[in-house]
Amino acid sequence: MGRDEEDLVAQSLTKVFGAGDTAVEAVRDASLSVRAGEFVAIVGPSGSGKTTLLAMLGGLLTATGGRVIVGGTDISRLNEAQRARFRRERVGFVFQGFNLVPYLTAEQNLLVIPSISGKLDGQMRARAGQLLQELGVKKRARHLPGELSGGERQRVAIGRALMNDPLLVLVDEPTSNLDSERGTEVVRSLAEEVKLRNKIGIMVTHDRRMLTHVDRILEIADGRLHSPESSP
Ligand SMILES: Nc1ncnc2c1ncn2[C@@H]1O[C@H](COP(=O)(O)OP(=O)(O)O)[C@@H](O)[C@H]1O
Ligand SMILES: [Mg+2]
Repeated sequence: MGRDEEDLVAQSLTKVFGAGDTAVEAVRDASLSVRAGEFVAIVGPSGSGKTTLLAMLGGLLTATGGRVIVGGTDISRLNEAQRARFRRERVGFVFQGFNLVPYLTAEQNLLVIPSISGKLDGQMRARAGQLLQELGVKKRARHLPGELSGGERQRVAIGRALMNDPLLVLVDEPTSNLDSERGTEVVRSLAEEVKLRNKIGIMVTHDRRMLTHVDRILEIADGRLHSPESSP
């Protein structure tokens, strides 16, 4: 697999919600590229288009214009079923809030997708254990989400997103429920996983305090992406 096949390239992405007088242009002409092993933050205020952009990059939302190429696949050309497969196999999402299953333990939350898809085996269990270890929550593996702190829950959600060994890891406001110190630790763990496992990591956030462990920062305002002056 060539280097370029591992990259994410988005070209002139646009998303318009609605039509006519009530149309909202949530993302306008956004272009970016990110390499495997790179952890990029997109920072902007609430309503600036962050979640919309992330959803298009991960094939959850179809763009009104432009295209997204991930690992050599132009996802804008995929049909619905192909996009579902792309998401399942190549993308790990960590959404705002945690979305953990409340009556399953931390470990079971990592194993829920493999068990639904009939892939639960020793290798998957070992993988879950390894991820919980790397994320510093191995000791909490048998606990329910309600028994974990916010930071621990977020680490479990990150572990779950990494279970399918995705090329692309997309993270939406991972620290919104955490204090500054816990938030920074969670972002550092994310950065470490992106490096260790050579993922394309993209995090969106409104919180500028969370930008310490990222390789590169892009800013978004009113749906438009910018590189701040300090960025190469
Ligand atoms: N499904 C939708 N229908 C209509 N407007 C939407 C929808 N989703 C988002 N928007 C609008 O698009 C803009 C960007 O939203 P969003 O991407 O959620 O921003 P952020 O994540 O930065 O807070 C906002 O003006 C929002 O109201
Ligand atoms: Mg959002």
